[in-house]
Amino acid sequence: MLDRHVFLVGPMGVGKSTIGRVLASELNVPFYDTDRVIESRTGADIPWIFDMEGEEGFRLRETGVLQDLVAEPPCVIATGGGIVTKPANCELMSQGLVCYLTASVEQLVERTSRDKKRPLLQVDNPREKIIEILAARDELYRGVADVRLNTDRFSPKAAVAEILAQL
Ligand code: S3P
Repeated sequence: MLDRHVFLVGPMGVGKSTIGRVLASELNVPFYDTDRVIESRTGADIPWIFDMEGEEGFRLRETGVLQDLVAEPPCVIATGGGIVTKPANCELMSQGLVCYLTASVEQLVERTSRDKKRPLLQVDNPREKIIEILAARDELYRGVADVRLNTDRFSPKAAVAEILAQL
């Protein structure tokens, strides 16, 4: 029986949602992805919310969703890559087990190159942006993490096995 939430944190494209879904199914608990919950609540997609409300508006919604999910019975929660930029979010996650997923810049570039759903990467040089974001957030991720896992060498299933071994 899972006795606390598992939060997956880490940069865009690292595999939080894919790994989270498999982990939740292994643990037999619900899975939530904060971005998807925001989208289902608003009926709008993330780029639209960034356009209409700016990043700050999005962050307010993100914190609201995190607050609500923390009140649920233990579950697996994949968070948006920027969740750690707000201290209130880090505080909320401290009640659970926080797993920081990492990957090489090459993997992150590759995994984010195919979609247009990440407003922060709609720039001329997404690779540079990813490097900049990692530099700004790595310490924040490390600050909240109980467990750290580099996913480069792992399939989602193998990554889940690694996380389960550390639970
Ligand atoms: C963001 C990451 C995205 C999403 C939004 C902002 C970020 O989530 O929350 O585009 O600031 O890193 P993913 O990490 O699931 O791509």
